[in-house]
Amino acid sequence: MDAFSALLFLYGLASLHFTRSNLCTVEDHFDVMDYGATSDGYTDDSRISGTIMAPKSPSLWDGKDASQWLGFKDVSGLNVDGLGTIDGQGKAWWDQSCRYHPQLAFKFISCNGSSVSNLNFINSSQTHILVTGCNSFSINNVLIESPQNSPNTDGIHIHSSQQLVITNSQIRCGDDCISIGDHNSNIQITNVECGPGHGISIGSLGKSRNYVNVEKIHVTNASFNRTTNGARIKTWQVGRGYVRDIVFENLVFNSVKNPIIIDQNYCDIRDACKEQVTGVEISNVIYKEIYGTSTTGIAINLNCSKSVPCRGISMESVLLTSAKAGRHVTANCRNAYGQEIDVIPYPCLLG
Ligand SMILES: *[C@@H]1O[C@H](CO)[C@@H](O)[C@H](O)[C@H]1NC(C)=O
Ligand SMILES: *[C@@H]1O[C@H](CO)[C@@H](O)[C@H](O)[C@H]1NC(C)=O
Ligand SMILES: *[C@@H]1O[C@H](CO)[C@@H](O)[C@H](O)[C@H]1NC(C)=O
Ligand SMILES: *[C@@H]1O[C@H](CO)[C@@H](O)[C@H](O)[C@H]1NC(C)=O
Ligand SMILES: *[C@@H]1O[C@H](CO)[C@@H](O)[C@H](O)[C@H]1NC(C)=O
Repeated sequence: MDAFSALLFLYGLASLHFTRSNLCTVEDHFDVMDYGATSDGYTDDSRISGTIMAPKSPSLWDGKDASQWLGFKDVSGLNVDGLGTIDGQGKAWWDQSCRYHPQLAFKFISCNGSSVSNLNFINSSQTHILVTGCNSFSINNVLIESPQNSPNTDGIHIHSSQQLVITNSQIRCGDDCISIGDHNSNIQITNVECGPGHGISIGSLGKSRNYVNVEKIHVTNASFNRTTNGARIKTWQVGRGYVRDIVFENLVFNSVKNPIIIDQNYCDIRDACKEQVTGVEISNVIYKEIYGTSTTGIAINLNCSKSVPCRGISMESVLLTSAKAGRHVTANCRNAYGQEIDVIPYPCLLG
């Protein structure tokens, strides 16, 4: 098998239900080569029609690695396409979520020039689509759906990847619609509808006191409906490294709790919340053509660190009002430097 050939691994125990044909149970993994994929040295295609369902009960994973369900590893030129549905049947996992969080995602691990398109992803036990270690990847026209209260069900999580494009997709879930992890560059997100969910988030970054490098992230034409956050950047004070050259443009918010937010003091463990001298540097972030409503009184919250302030923030043509009739919204900026033109609520940035 050469480097170009594609392997589809179905780890552990998985049941495949195809709507029109038979039911088969697959142990370990199978090779898409046996299912009509070609190894022409250029492109392999896997088409998925019908529904692939995960085992319903966590106990079916006993003795197996529940972190592995559908994964594509070390692939090049693999385009997963179809009009099918990947159903994670996550409810039983969510119900025990405090004890155990398996990563039962649809995963691409280490790949070049690959894509996912025209598929539905529903009710993953955790992240719906995980892309890690990929170079040149696109996600187009996917629908992701899990209940608003399903814990940790990110829509798409991206890690250690470059040259990603996410377009024309709808994401409704219980956590971030899209989250961008520690080492990523050149990510273009366009025409995405998010909500319910926690918004489009860069971070959280640097949780393990590690170095992070995230740059050239462009989010344009996105709408957020009743999400907890909109355009978010969150970093841990204990982290190091940078987030830079970020653009959030042409965004529309409908009843969003924190429409624009940078939290450079992110911590969900009490001890990590104390003021530190370290931090992830955030610079050159542009917010442009942003409209809509906030459900809280702080529509813009750029809460940066004292020791590593946010620099080069630019806001232009931003108009955020309250989702509640007769209420006002304000902007809060702490240690955030930059310039603003035509921004309401105002003032915020330090010059
Ligand atoms: C992807 O491309 C890089 C750089 O050309 C190469 O080192 C790597 O082996 C490729 N990976 C796969 C899975 O083809
Ligand atoms: C997702 O799971 C929830 C809870 O089990 C269920 O109510 C809902 O119908 C499922 N969504 C889809 C699209 O099947
Ligand atoms: C953004 O949306 C507008 C209006 O829906 C459309 O005209 C424009 O082409 C979109 N831009 C991109 C980059 O898709
Ligand atoms: C926002 O979501 C609600 C359901 O939560 C839906 O009824 C409404 O049509 C959506 N609005 C937009 C602008 O998409
Ligand atoms: C800003 O961050 C500090 C430190 O975490 C926190 O105490 C404060 O409440 C935050 N302010 C706002 C307006 O979010």
